[in-house]
Amino acid sequence: MSTQHETRDADARAIDALRKELGDEVVLLGHHYQHQDIVDHCDFLGDSLELSRKAANVAARHIVFCGVYFMAESAALLARADQAVHLPEPDADCVMALMTPAVLLDHILTRLTSTGRRLIPLAYVNTFMDVKAVVGRHGGAVCTSANAEQMLRWALKEGDGVLFLPDKNLGQNTARTLGLADTDIHLLDIRKRGEALDLAAANKASLLCWPGLCAIHARFTADQVNAARAADPSCRIVVHPECSPEVAQAADAAGSTSFIIDFVRSAPAGAHIVIGTEGNLVRRLERQYADRVKIDPLLFSTCSHMAKVTPAKLRNSLEQIRKGTAAPVSVPELDAAPARATLERMLEVCA
Ligand code: 13P
Repeated sequence: MSTQHETRDADARAIDALRKELGDEVVLLGHHYQHQDIVDHCDFLGDSLELSRKAANVAARHIVFCGVYFMAESAALLARADQAVHLPEPDADCVMALMTPAVLLDHILTRLTSTGRRLIPLAYVNTFMDVKAVVGRHGGAVCTSANAEQMLRWALKEGDGVLFLPDKNLGQNTARTLGLADTDIHLLDIRKRGEALDLAAANKASLLCWPGLCAIHARFTADQVNAARAADPSCRIVVHPECSPEVAQAADAAGSTSFIIDFVRSAPAGAHIVIGTEGNLVRRLERQYADRVKIDPLLFSTCSHMAKVTPAKLRNSLEQIRKGTAAPVSVPELDAAPARATLERMLEVCA
């Protein structure tokens, strides 16, 4: 056995022992994109929406969140005051979330609403607390890929326009599903600290999209979808809506990570499914359903930030909790209150 395997097994045994010792004090939540070595220890696995709901309802005093920073921060916003949320690796970030600086968003929203327009900001959950706080102060809400349609419908009714951020792909894919025409959608030019905005074009559109994207899903192309179909015309192709509109339209279906799991679960025996999302989830589904369906990645694309949560980091996090030296995710109340309101609004609208 290699040293790497020995270390991994020692970490796994230590995690099991710590969990036994900590008992009901700790609950482990994990996102579907986590590596199997982490998933094996999780009490609950879910997509962003399911994890937000779970975080708002668990009894344990310590929530160890195996995912990336914005997810743990959202859990911390929804947790009770006597609960602590821990991220085993605080540097596990999200490239897309980093594409929206809060100050720039506030400036742009102020410019776009200076005419008196009631523009509702709708933030994908892949944003940091300070951005959610700006969204909250401007009367907006959060959405996830699982409820983007419902939330966009809500936001379009609430105001006379919506600013969807940061994912231009999820924004455009959702708008198309709701039947918005291309002329209803405007991609914002956020350069020059917001001074490059085309205000006339923005005023005419009902949906304004921030120009962010997910680096992992941006690797999927319509050519890959066409090549997969050419290789096996009977295959079914399912992708995450963070893929470009060209990819989402060329595929058979697009939906959240839980949607993709259900798509595989309900496929007929013998089906061949090609999946365009993060590689850890695709590999897990491939192993789980190996006796029933054939699964291929559209392209093997992994999230290096999700991968920062390792068994060694998880073990360390649990050790710190046991010793009472852990530093939980902090949510200073000034931003926490308006940011929490955006998450609560989502949970209410989608109750
Ligand atoms: P889900 O909401 O589908 O779990 O996706 C979260 C995410 O960040 C995908 O990149």
